[in-house]
Amino acid sequence: MVYINENYLNLNKNYLFAKISDEKSNYVKNNPQKKLIDLSIGDVTLPLAPSSIEGINKACYNLSKKETFLGYPPSSGHEFLKKEIIQKDYKKRGISIDYSELFIGDSSKSDISNILDVFDNKLTVALQNPVYPVYVDSNIIRGNKIIYIDDVDTFIPQKEHIDIIYLCFPNNPTGRIISKELLKKYVDYAIESDTIIFFDSAYEAFIQDKNTVHSIYEIENAKKVAVEFRSFSKTAGFTPIRLAYTVVPNDIMIHSRSNKKIALNSLFKRLKDTKYNGPSYISEYAIFNVYKSNNFNELQENINYYLRNTTLLADFFTSKKMMNSLSINSPYVWIKCKDNMNSWDFFYYMLNTFSIIGTPGVGFGTNGEGYFRLTGFGSYEDTVEAINRMKEKI
Ligand code: MLT
Repeated sequence: MVYINENYLNLNKNYLFAKISDEKSNYVKNNPQKKLIDLSIGDVTLPLAPSSIEGINKACYNLSKKETFLGYPPSSGHEFLKKEIIQKDYKKRGISIDYSELFIGDSSKSDISNILDVFDNKLTVALQNPVYPVYVDSNIIRGNKIIYIDDVDTFIPQKEHIDIIYLCFPNNPTGRIISKELLKKYVDYAIESDTIIFFDSAYEAFIQDKNTVHSIYEIENAKKVAVEFRSFSKTAGFTPIRLAYTVVPNDIMIHSRSNKKIALNSLFKRLKDTKYNGPSYISEYAIFNVYKSNNFNELQENINYYLRNTTLLADFFTSKKMMNSLSINSPYVWIKCKDNMNSWDFFYYMLNTFSIIGTPGVGFGTNGEGYFRLTGFGSYEDTVEAINRMKEKI
């Protein structure tokens, strides 16, 4: 007999966004005359920046010539791109990252789940609640024990030893940011308690507030304990072409059962070398061309466009007393469902009344029950139309 990994039986039947995608297809099939506005999954809608397209074309040209053709990339990405990232994402902020600490890959989603391969099974991990479902599912698959952080402000110190704490700021789904002071407490706690922090900063490009960080390494000593995950999906609109990177500092040590200290970096490298053949050269070159030419303003234009949509939605729901007016630091609005509806009832209410699809808050965890997430990644016209549809009735 062939046995399964029983942990898979502990997962919800469908991955959250797969279920929403099915609901969307059903609705479109059954209501061909209605125009559905999709504000559910955080997926970009604007075309790639001109410098990215130019980079793709240059990469294709390079691959078309014998002299410039390149085969497999290094498993952690090409040095030409690493150099730009190290300079422009880190050195500029006073952070020193070595080439060996930077792993360029296809997506944060895969790095953040696959990195668990190098750890023991049955870890205790702490996750925010509500939280990006990939962290939950990938830990369930490993058979890890999950502790939920109900309130990020008061969570530490804990009685129980925690192996890994996941922090996502600006937060998906709530959009909340973390103050430098609070993040420092997490870093200090991690150093004292031999805990590793996984810091997901996929949305750092959306930050408007000053009292927060773009990188956890802005906090003193964070390189001793924190792994940082960054993605070009939202920052550069790379959802169709895929590219991300992970920083695993050389200082972070984990232990073998025979009490040897081993650098997490060396294990992650070993994992990458074995299981991956590096990111796509074309995707790397697409972002390289933006960095090299310093055309970050092209990326910022798209981010500003999405932030404008998010602000319109936030202002609308604030006026309806469905959310507290907060500064906008992410492409998401996190609203309280109308009339104390639960998240899925509100999902169907929004779909059937306004032909608007969003994401039920409970899909991000129990503390998301009664909440709903909408994104600013739609078009400006769709966002305005969505607000007009809801204006009188919600
Ligand atoms: C989301 O909508 O939460 C994310 O964009 C989905 C993802 O990044 O996988």
